[in-house]
Amino acid sequence: MKKGLRSRLAQYGDEEFALFLRRGFLKGAGFTDEALDRPVVGILSTASDFNPCHATAGRLAEAAARGVRLAGALPFVFPTVSLHEAFSFPTSMLLRNLMAMDVEEMVRALPLDAVVLIGGCDKTIPAELMGAISADMPAILLPVGAMLAGRHEGVRLGACTDCRRLWAAFRAGKLAPADLDRAHDQLMPTAGTCMVMGTASTMACLAETLGFTLPGAATAPAVSSDRIRIAEATGKRAAEMAVAGGPTPRQIISAAALRNASVVLQATCGSTNATVHLAAIAGRAGLIYDLAELDAVGRETPVLLNLKPAGNFFMEDFHSGGGLPALWRRLREQLDLSAPTVNGEAIGDIVARWPAWTDDEVVRPLDRPICPGEAIAMLSGNLAPNGAAIKLASATPKLCNHRGPALVFDSLKDLADRIDDPDLPVTPDHVMVLRNAGPIGAPGMPEAGALPVPKKLGARGVTDMVRISDARMSGTAFGTVVLHVAPEASAGGPLALVRDGDIIALDAGKRRLDVEVDEAELAKRRAAWKPPPKPARGYARLYAERVTQADKGCDFDFLAG
Ligand code: FES
Repeated sequence: MKKGLRSRLAQYGDEEFALFLRRGFLKGAGFTDEALDRPVVGILSTASDFNPCHATAGRLAEAAARGVRLAGALPFVFPTVSLHEAFSFPTSMLLRNLMAMDVEEMVRALPLDAVVLIGGCDKTIPAELMGAISADMPAILLPVGAMLAGRHEGVRLGACTDCRRLWAAFRAGKLAPADLDRAHDQLMPTAGTCMVMGTASTMACLAETLGFTLPGAATAPAVSSDRIRIAEATGKRAAEMAVAGGPTPRQIISAAALRNASVVLQATCGSTNATVHLAAIAGRAGLIYDLAELDAVGRETPVLLNLKPAGNFFMEDFHSGGGLPALWRRLREQLDLSAPTVNGEAIGDIVARWPAWTDDEVVRPLDRPICPGEAIAMLSGNLAPNGAAIKLASATPKLCNHRGPALVFDSLKDLADRIDDPDLPVTPDHVMVLRNAGPIGAPGMPEAGALPVPKKLGARGVTDMVRISDARMSGTAFGTVVLHVAPEASAGGPLALVRDGDIIALDAGKRRLDVEVDEAELAKRRAAWKPPPKPARGYARLYAERVTQADKGCDFDFLAG
């Protein structure tokens, strides 16, 4: 196979002319022949002024390029779609597959022998891994790293767990606007991704566990010298992979690696969003992410990582407390230590050489977990035939076994219009249902699943209720929230058939989610159901027609395998 600038020549019907032209253009940019004969490492940058989580991406690309040159190869930095949670209308999840396609096609089209993928904010790491697995070129992931924690009036603050806490206090009239303003300046005090165990931190930890990063790459703070050194080392390793021709992503990912990811997802009390992303990542390799196995793993895996929102600390504490390999060491009986990594070492090799010191408060020993039970459980029942997820570690225990009348919101707009209506007929026993907020319905399955507690109940001190939807929830959120109901309402799932007052039964211990309406009545309602109209054109049309449901990862059906 042709390597470096000789690879993937533009098709003029004359390869030598195509190479002559390509090299000519680079000579025009000031390159020498000696440089142009080197192996080529692409550095995929997600730097964007619209992505403050990636404000350091340019500096990381420079450091990675330095590493590439130190190893004798030639770096080329190139852009891709960059997604930030707060800058992606209507939701970044809608665009994750677009980014994955861009990554896959550009990695395939460009003359590179290996690629460094710089990602971090929630959807970017999943999109990059999906695209890289499909392209199957030697690839190594470089997370941008998490922000440092903020400080306000003696309290450490974390985005976005404390964003939600402070906003809820403001909504309930317990925090003055001026106090909210002062805290606002400290919620995101540096560049980097959210520093709690939200989706970005979860996906960085899972990428490292799957073997796609150098050890320590998930946890080093965005603004630390460790992060820059990791970037340089990542570039150096990518140059070695360019020469060796591997490992490729499909040589890294396996059923064993995915099971390891499930163990770490449970032990870190990671984001429920990871269940969707892991299914999509696995699907790109022709594998099935086993949600039943995730549930079973959870039953035997305590939560050991003491990070917000389940615990007290932040990503910087995890890094200085030992990082992910220290957690793997605690979990070594449950992990497949033979799983390979891009570094050329197996997980077990890294555990064996990693410094022994571990901060026992941050990475708890097995006999002193944060939470003895499972973090994430998978439910099924007549309301969710293809499954639903609940983060038990963030739920109110007594609400995890609850029967109550449904209060149905038909859409995000309906929710926004009525949730704070003083006449809303709602009691703390109600089960709030949000539908048509799934992959097709919203579209893009936004993080709307943690429906706000209605103002009138909040004022009475109610802080949690059972909430059910076909949407997702931020990894930084909490509550008794059932998510990812599949099939979604807009695909004709049973959620579409629920009416106000129907009794819904949640029994998380038995992993059941049911609506207590007999099958004959449900069949009658099903016959009257009409699918919503599809978007008229463009990417939204493609998305609505080809997106899979949450249990399959919400990827496009034609991109799997
Ligand atoms: Fe980017 Fe939280 S918004 S990681």
